Amino acid sequence: MSELDIDFYESEDPIWNPALMAIPTPGIRKMVNLAATMDDVIHLSIGQPDLPPPKHVIDATVNALHANQTGYTMDAGLPELLDALAEYYGARYSRKLTAENIIITTGATEAVYLALTATSAPGREFIVPDPSFMLYAPLIRMNGGTVKYIPTRPENNHQLDPQEVIDAMDMNTYGIVLNSPSNPTGTIYPRETVEAIVEEAAYRGIYVISDEVYDHLVYDGKTYPSVLSCCSDLDHVMVISSFSKTFSMAGMRVGWLIASQGAIKKLRRYHMFTTTVANTPCQWAGVAALKGGNQFIDDMLAEYTRRRNRLVQLVDETPYLRGYRPEGAFYLFPSLPEGINGSNVALRMLKETGVCTIAGDTFGDACSNALRISYSTSLPQIERAFERIIPWMEKQEFE
Ligand SMILES: Cc1ncc(COP(=O)(O)O)c(C=O)c1O
Repeated sequence: MSELDIDFYESEDPIWNPALMAIPTPGIRKMVNLAATMDDVIHLSIGQPDLPPPKHVIDATVNALHANQTGYTMDAGLPELLDALAEYYGARYSRKLTAENIIITTGATEAVYLALTATSAPGREFIVPDPSFMLYAPLIRMNGGTVKYIPTRPENNHQLDPQEVIDAMDMNTYGIVLNSPSNPTGTIYPRETVEAIVEEAAYRGIYVISDEVYDHLVYDGKTYPSVLSCCSDLDHVMVISSFSKTFSMAGMRVGWLIASQGAIKKLRRYHMFTTTVANTPCQWAGVAALKGGNQFIDDMLAEYTRRRNRLVQLVDETPYLRGYRPEGAFYLFPSLPEGINGSNVALRMLKETGVCTIAGDTFGDACSNALRISYSTSLPQIERAFERIIPWMEKQEFE
């Protein structure tokens, strides 16, 4: 992980909980803050959609405001949204769900926070793929739990080997965090992988916490193997998603967690002590999103697919970068040669070309020679970025 921010963590002021030590210096912020001081930066760093949300979603938000839908909802969320989600997921995965299986949260972020901090405790171990979204490991460690990383590799398209995960399970394993399609790699785990892990975990009483925020950003006509479609019951799973990526609603902050009714009961109480409820007008926007048909998603997928295809070509044409073909999300995580420090490269590349990427060590220990490239930016911007990156890379002398 990146070095600690000494001012932040070693302040003379004893008020701060030492658990804050578990939070690393956010690699993304460091790059984006530096980029903000520069002119003419092209961002391949951003982890949120650049497309606007559908019009009917905006209209629903405004209508909710005009209809005075500005108070708190009930603790689990807006009943209309809970019902709409139960119906939507029930139809998508042919699985019977009720409103009591769901809690609405302030984005998937709060759902991840609730799931991990309500389960992590000293002596409990969590299996996490490396690289992975940067929230998981710190939230586990802040609450005394430990992280057992399972490295994934670019030569294997960053696929998770289910046998490696099963072999890593032991007496202390309490949870497994999955994130497919993955941030930062864009990898989708095939059904056999998810089924094998979920089945073994259920047998051993281990929780699978599945972050599925990119569950609709799945390319090449693939059917998405959600944990919800791979588990026999909900006793040992928590499935998390949100409107942020699917409907370009990241700033509207509405997500959810699906689990057994018993788990949801516990989490509802914790949620009341965390954020109370999610944003009310935006929960109405969520109802409109779910009921508004698939056109927006289809158009979005067509656009991201064009960008993904071109980015894969451009990375292939770039000296020293080793790519692969990601099947989901909007990231590619190419590697530099073994032993090259991705953090230094990303920093120099930003300073010398004005292209902002995110270094691999932001996402774990195993991929410090990687760069995360986001294609949630327009095709012309991606082309312009590589007009700078390719000649710059040609001048480098990496062994
Ligand atoms: C894997 C993953 N999980 C969760 C989130 C947070 O999503 P939300 O905006 O719904 O809080 C992100 C955002 O980038 C993400 O990449």
